[in-house]
Amino acid sequence: MADEERTEKQRGGGAQDAPEKPASRLEGDGRAAVVSEPAPAGEEDPFRWHTGAKRDHGAEDAIEFIDVKKSFGRNTVLNGLNLSIPEGKISMILGPSGTGKSVCIKHMVGLLYPDEGDVLVHGESVPSMSDDELFEMRKKFGVLFQDGALFGSMNLYDNVAFPLRQHTDKGEDEIAEIVNRRLKEVGLAGAGDRMPNELSGGMRKRAGFARALVLDPEIVLFDEPDSGLDPVRTALLCELIKEVHEENGGAYVVITHDIMSARRVAEYIAILWKGRIVEAGPAEELFNSDNEFVRQFLAGEAQGPLGME
Ligand SMILES: Nc1ncnc2c1ncn2[C@@H]1O[C@H](COP(=O)(O)OP(=O)(O)OP(=O)(O)O)[C@@H](O)[C@H]1O
Ligand SMILES: [Mg+2]
Repeated sequence: MADEERTEKQRGGGAQDAPEKPASRLEGDGRAAVVSEPAPAGEEDPFRWHTGAKRDHGAEDAIEFIDVKKSFGRNTVLNGLNLSIPEGKISMILGPSGTGKSVCIKHMVGLLYPDEGDVLVHGESVPSMSDDELFEMRKKFGVLFQDGALFGSMNLYDNVAFPLRQHTDKGEDEIAEIVNRRLKEVGLAGAGDRMPNELSGGMRKRAGFARALVLDPEIVLFDEPDSGLDPVRTALLCELIKEVHEENGGAYVVITHDIMSARRVAEYIAILWKGRIVEAGPAEELFNSDNEFVRQFLAGEAQGPLGME
């Protein structure tokens, strides 16, 4: 919170006030006082576009990140992240490559732990869960990892049946009913005996989606469902995500850097950059944001504050 406040104040202060603010502290040559400011004159504040605006999404929070910091060695990936994912909506986390979107998802399911701060799922702190609690908590989630992550040695049917066999004591008849229903839902009815390497990228994604749904998850995470797909298949997959969400409800979190996908399916958008949310809010509000960074990013333009760093 302290960081957020500092950024807020600094932003409120803005460059125009710069001569006044340090002046009130000037003593001697005054330089020491200026150096202690978070963004000394002449150096750009890396968080100047981060309004941290938390526009109301009008729902309960399914997932919350509270002041989360995460570094790998000297590489700070999440740097005081505050983010809420609303219940019952399709949310998208957008951000340039390598900003920590996948790292974010891994915190939600307890595959990574924050160095500082907390991650709450339905109000419960993931980092403080015991192994048993974590195991139970993960049943709430359906996850479609970035590469589809099907088991190469199993046919589609067995891939989709896998979570049911592992996490439930349902009999094979009931499992067959669920697996066939989910395969049909994603347009793969009749493809159950195909092996993953016989499928196109789009079919593998859809199979991964079917597998993510078999335990009737309350929360579904998609890590770049559109990566490696052509524009038509991406559009079809987006439609599928919307349809399945309408049918099943729950909190969907879709990670992407594809703005077209965001336009198609997002109800709530959070833009991640430099380890914090630049802005988050209902999709239509973000697409009309007057924040230069948000405008550039959502328009996919070369001109603007976001460069090739
Ligand atoms: N387990 C790990 N160990 C060390 N560094 C990691 C680990 N996981 C991620 N990172 C680093 O964290 C940063 C963010 O990675 P992440 O995969 O979350 O990016 P991303 O936003 O998902 O990017 P992309 O859009 O390319 O998938 C990268 O610099 C990456 O090298
Ligand atoms: Mg990623």
